[in-house]
Amino acid sequence: MAKKLKRIGILTSGGDAPGMNASIRAITRKALNSGLEVVAIYEGYKGLIEDNTKLYQIRDVSNIINHGGTILFTARCPEFKTEEGMEKAMATCEKHHIDGIVTIGGDGTFRGALDLSRHGIHCIGLPGTIDNDITSTDYTIGYDTAMNTAIQMVDRLRDTCESHFRCNVVEIMGNNSGYIALNVGLATGSSQIVVNEMPLDESRMFDEIKTGKERKKRHYIIMVAEGVKGYAEDLAKRIPEITGIDTRFTRLGHVVRGGSPTLRDRVIASQMGVEAVNLLIQGKSNMVVCMHGEEITSMDIEYALTLDQMYKGNLKPGALSKYSISTVEEMKDFCTRKRENFASLYNLALDISQ
Ligand code: F6P
Repeated sequence: MAKKLKRIGILTSGGDAPGMNASIRAITRKALNSGLEVVAIYEGYKGLIEDNTKLYQIRDVSNIINHGGTILFTARCPEFKTEEGMEKAMATCEKHHIDGIVTIGGDGTFRGALDLSRHGIHCIGLPGTIDNDITSTDYTIGYDTAMNTAIQMVDRLRDTCESHFRCNVVEIMGNNSGYIALNVGLATGSSQIVVNEMPLDESRMFDEIKTGKERKKRHYIIMVAEGVKGYAEDLAKRIPEITGIDTRFTRLGHVVRGGSPTLRDRVIASQMGVEAVNLLIQGKSNMVVCMHGEEITSMDIEYALTLDQMYKGNLKPGALSKYSISTVEEMKDFCTRKRENFASLYNLALDISQ
């Protein structure tokens, strides 16, 4: 029979993302309303190692749903990957009688949750990153806000490009993923979107800029994902040489990671937070909450991490050996569908980019 939980912890780890606070609020309120106690763990796994914690009450999460960042703060913590670090983390769990933890973050955060689960702590991961680069879910908390912030900024760049008859090459965050670049590129009418996921036909790009010029087009935005390392800045130097169009380079950087979360991020973060607590109450562990279409669902963490490796082409040797042939086929189909959806939106964006 599943062990009955009494006290759960919450932590945020990796890069912060708007909407994390909405999750923290939802987890805290749902847990307290369900008779569980809640321990806030500050600065991610580092706080678990250093026992930087506080017992939360209902009012501790008041007035945070509208705030960017994370009230629990976040940190990267190499020590947590060591046996000594894990021992210290487990000592904190024992000291505070924490028997379940909801961890909010990206794939690194999920790996930490997997390690904790192996030491007997019931862990549920919530996908929190602006990058939308977690394969197991269609949506990550923070993605929508980051894109909405970005389109406001790119619209402004476009105004000044139009006035000056210029091109602006914009580099945008996303880690190695092109999801933000793709969607923001489409939504801002960018002339070209450059991402690692799709091949780039450079001569076609330059020809289209030249054609645009002949047709009296005055503004050009080229959206480049930061994962295409070093490309954007160099391209901004080459465009004037090849097309004669005055060009500027803009790196949007961390500014897209802050700010008040959008409605979509607040709602999904709340739904995911409640789902995490429900899973813990049901005695589940070692799961990640996901969104498939508009449905909030969940998946085994190890399965989710393997899927992620498969999609990103870095499967570890033997990673598939524990899965049946049909499960591996399911994983491959999942990745294929994801790639096809990406490619289809990319092609649509380019098709209407003149
Ligand atoms: O994962 C979120 C993210 O903002 C990425 O888009 C970016 O590559 C990275 O974090 C930046 O990390 P840091 O905050 O350590 O500079």
